[in-house]
Amino acid sequence: MDLTFLEAELSRKAAAPNTDGRPLPRLWGVDEEISDDPTEKELGATDSAESYLEAGPTSNTPILVCDSVSRSFGGVQALKGVSISIGSGEVFGLVGPNGSGKTTVVNAITGFYPPQQGRIVFEGADITGLAPHNVAKRGIARTFQNIALFRGMSVLDNIMMGRHIHMRHSALGTLFYWALAERQEIAQRELVEDLIDLLQLQDVRDAPIEIVPLGLKKRVELARALVAEPRLLILDEPMAGMNQEEKEYMARFILDAREERGLTVLLIEHHMDVVAALCDRMAVLSNGEQIAAGTPAQALSNQKVVDAYLGSKRRHAG
Ligand SMILES: Nc1ncnc2c1ncn2[C@@H]1O[C@H](COP(=O)(O)OP(=O)(O)O)[C@@H](O)[C@H]1O
Ligand SMILES: [Mg+2]
Repeated sequence: MDLTFLEAELSRKAAAPNTDGRPLPRLWGVDEEISDDPTEKELGATDSAESYLEAGPTSNTPILVCDSVSRSFGGVQALKGVSISIGSGEVFGLVGPNGSGKTTVVNAITGFYPPQQGRIVFEGADITGLAPHNVAKRGIARTFQNIALFRGMSVLDNIMMGRHIHMRHSALGTLFYWALAERQEIAQRELVEDLIDLLQLQDVRDAPIEIVPLGLKKRVELARALVAEPRLLILDEPMAGMNQEEKEYMARFILDAREERGLTVLLIEHHMDVVAALCDRMAVLSNGEQIAAGTPAQALSNQKVVDAYLGSKRRHAG
């Protein structure tokens, strides 16, 4: 993939790995300082949930820890003891060839397919096995590799669905407390409208989701995830099926979200170059096992990673 913006990010990183002066347009209006305090503890990519729970949540501790997570489906061992830890405010990449277990990690964290072994700790609390809506309520939002939007609904209504975890009234309750619910809905709508502006979805705002092109559907999913106001955003191959311009937009968006909102992002990708350009740290999966972790430079120079990618390229070519 040749992405000019991503290439620029790559060479910027190579030239000055620790500078932060990105000459990018700002997508978020909020000015929030992200700590670049050099005394902050360097997070090990494999800090265990145990040490995190013992230490208690501080600004230095990871926001998310997956500790020795395993999951199988029938005879297929999709994850074999995967341990990753993500620092607050990081863009963390999870890479690997197709079928290596990336989406299974997302499903384990978000409760769709809980791990059969191991633990998941978010902001100091063990969330292993929580149902998806409870994981969402804790502050984790995701997008899906295969778009999961509601047919027969408009773009606006699809985005509104992301707010439901914050709505206090059930459908029945709403019948009785309609005035209160209406006031709540107005407040929710403002948030949704702000995101529609931010993600430049005005033109398709009222369109039925079926007629929206794929690249924009991905953006609608992103809006639906963000409208839940998560602290951890998980993006499962957000650039798949996008054209060049949309990929560039998504890349900038991810970096801006990190820089200006302090949002933590777990970015799933199978394109190495995308992850290397955007992520602070990353982990590489191959056949359900973690074969490398660290900065993109460290992971990319790992021989196992080179072999896994060459191997998968040969398989695809053959
Ligand atoms: N719900 C499921 N049911 C059965 N097998 C699954 C399921 N989810 C994943 N798998 C299997 O687990 C392995 C890893 O899949 P996945 O996590 O989707 O890989 P990736 O996202 O890296 O492409 C694959 O062999 C896949 O077929
Ligand atoms: Mg996947």
